[in-house]
Order: sequence, then C-alpha cells, then structure tokens
Amino acid sequence: MRATRPRRTAGGGELEPARRVDLLAYFSGAFDLAESQPIGHACRVAKIALGIERELKLAPVARRRVINAALLHDAGVSIRTTSGHLGGGAWVAERFGLDAGVKSAIRATHERWDGKGRPAGIAGDAIPIDALVLGAAHWASDHVEEPANPLRARAQLQRACPDEVEAIAGPRVTSEMCAVLRDDGIWIALWTAELPVVVVAAGSGEGRPSHRKVERAAAAMGDVNDAAVREPGRSHRVASLAGAMASALGFLAGYTRAVTIAGYLIDVGQLGAPRHITEQPSILSVDEMEQMRRHPGLGSRMLATAPGLGEIPAWVEAHHERPDGRGYPGMLTGEEVPVTPRILAVADAYCALRADRPYRSALSRSEALSLVRAGAGGQFDAAVVGALTPAADACEARWVRERRVVQVPRRQVVQKWLRRRA
Ligand SMILES: [Fe+2]
Ligand SMILES: [Fe+2]
Repeated sequence: MRATRPRRTAGGGELEPARRVDLLAYFSGAFDLAESQPIGHACRVAKIALGIERELKLAPVARRRVINAALLHDAGVSIRTTSGHLGGGAWVAERFGLDAGVKSAIRATHERWDGKGRPAGIAGDAIPIDALVLGAAHWASDHVEEPANPLRARAQLQRACPDEVEAIAGPRVTSEMCAVLRDDGIWIALWTAELPVVVVAAGSGEGRPSHRKVERAAAAMGDVNDAAVREPGRSHRVASLAGAMASALGFLAGYTRAVTIAGYLIDVGQLGAPRHITEQPSILSVDEMEQMRRHPGLGSRMLATAPGLGEIPAWVEAHHERPDGRGYPGMLTGEEVPVTPRILAVADAYCALRADRPYRSALSRSEALSLVRAGAGGQFDAAVVGALTPAADACEARWVRERRVVQVPRRQVVQKWLRRRA
C-alpha cells in the first residue's frame, strides 16, 4: 500500500465557533445513552424546566443554571461514583467549568418537597428552587417518555398534575408546572428533532461562541469518557499527541486544533457501551469486543448534528479503520481512510501501548515506538508514523512536566472488583 504524505495545507477541517451550552445540548444525548434513557431525555427535562422557570419569572442567572443542570443531571450515571450519580453529575459539571449553583441543583434533583427524596432527605424551602423545578420537569419527562401516544401522556399528566407534583416540588412550582402542561408550544417542541436547538435558543446568557469554548467542552467530554472507562488523562494524551503529529506533518494551526479536539472525542461512543463491558478490568470476550467495536459509529452519531465540530464526526467514525483494510467499522482501504483518522489511529495506539492494561504493564517509550513502527504500511499510514517520534518526544516531556492529573471520584464497581480479587 502506498503511504500518503499529507501536504502542507489548511486541511479543510477548521471548526466553527460555538458556545458550551450548544455542545452540552448535544453531548447530553451521550449521557442519555449511558443511562439507557431515550435520546433527548435531558433536553426534554431542560425544555420543560425552562417553561416552569419562565412562568416563575426567575432571574436570567437562574435560567442559565436550570439549562445547564437539566442537561447534565444524569451525566454522573456514566462514571458510577461512590457519591452516586448526582455527585458524579456535579463532578461532570465542574469539568465543564460550571459554577456551584449548577452543582447544587444537580445534587438536589431527586430531593422532594415532602422530605421523602434522596440523597439528603431535605424538605421544603431547604431545597434550591432550581432543583424543585428540575424535579417537577423530571416527573413530567418520565411520564412523557413512557406511553407510545404523546397526547394520551399529556392528558394523564394534566389529570395528575397538582396532586402528584406538589409532594415533589411544592405549591409554587406545581402551579407553574400545571400551566406548562397547557402550553401547546412546549408540548410540540418536546418531539421535534431540533429539540437541542430549541433548548439553547431559549438563551443561556453565556456570551459569544468561540473556538476556545469548543475546545474546552471537548476536553471536558474527554475527561468524562476517561472516567467512565477508568483511564484518567487518556483523552488529553491522545489529543495532544495527535495535534503534535498534525503539526509535525505540516498542517496549519486551525486544522491542527481540529485534530486535537477530535482526539478528545474519538471514544465518546464508549459511553453507550454496556456498563459490564466498560467496567470489566480484564480481557474482553469476542462478543464483548464486538460490542465495543460499535463505539466509532455510535460516537459519530452522537456528534453528527452538534454545532462547531466540522468534520470531526466523520473522523471519529473512521479512527479504527486501517490502511490495509482490516479495520472497522467500514473496512476502508488505503486513501479511503482520510488523513486525520490515520493520525488519530497512530496517536491512540501509541497512548494505549504506553498505558497499563489488566493483562500487561505499560510499555516503555522505545518499545511502544518500535511496535507502532512495525505496523507502518499495514495497520498504520507510514508517512503518519514518520511524524510519531518527534511528536511523542515533545508530548512525553510535556506530560511529565504538566503532571496533569484529573481527580476522578472514587468508583464503586472497580473497588468491589478489587475486593473480590483480594
Ligand atoms: Fe433523568
Ligand atoms: Fe476508539
């Protein structure tokens, strides 16, 4: 197979500026999958919560809290921490740079006005108003998603509204929840394919879109995925190495940034893999391996309609393709595999070799370089592999210098597994 030497070029992969909330609205679909919720659950909670918030005439800052907390309220499910999925959700909110108000709202999502909620069992006005709004919105969303007929669901909700909701959210929020149920506009919006757009159009007051916000949101999403698959820092190493390789290959700055951002996101589809597979700290069976092989396509679909990401969804889909045609999911060959996935594949493989696995210790730098070089021309693009050594030299020194450690909350399942083995 003839290796392709990428030319010095802008590459065509430049990204559009976007806001954090724009991306959160789409990333929330990944958290829905991780919780086995129907896609759009987090957006539906956000839309209903915004309707209640509008009726309550809360301050704009409360609107920001409600949107962000609703979009992330189930994000902690994917990382399974000892502090429960709400504590995990607050940790995810922190990774996205959200403030203490958002974290408090997430932590109190399942508290109830009558004190019978969890985890703290607080009651009445001790519960933040944002959390009461989320609680009511969650109640409506759960009912909406169950029956096949949305109109029947609405009729059921209208009948149940004051009585069922008051114990959850108190009289003030309940009265506005009942008003929202009579609002045709909100009801219709819950089933539109553009629901994420509708949610963020309500306005988060977040300010102007920027490339920096896209990069930060992608990096946070990478942290969440790393926490879910038990390898903290992995996405940052892949992203920085892929970016350094793109730079060494002569790509311009805008394209190099896009490659870096893709590096954070390549394995986001793993959030949709069954928990017993991602949490298994041993070698996967053939069947489990097959299920994991769905992650490029799943990740690509999660990101496909998100704003600002340019060609990244297509690159994510192809990051396990191989020039010799033995990759997946498309078994593409040679130059059918775009150059960026070829870069991502090399960066991903090198970082995997440099990390501990249940069945082997991390390889040394020279061992990892030798193994990747051995795959040049078959598993990997030879020209891309040529850029690995200088890029790895630069990155390894930086990784040690920065000592970037993401404090991941303690995990239940891994600890249980370790106890069983002891
Ligand atoms: Fe939920
Ligand atoms: Fe992957």
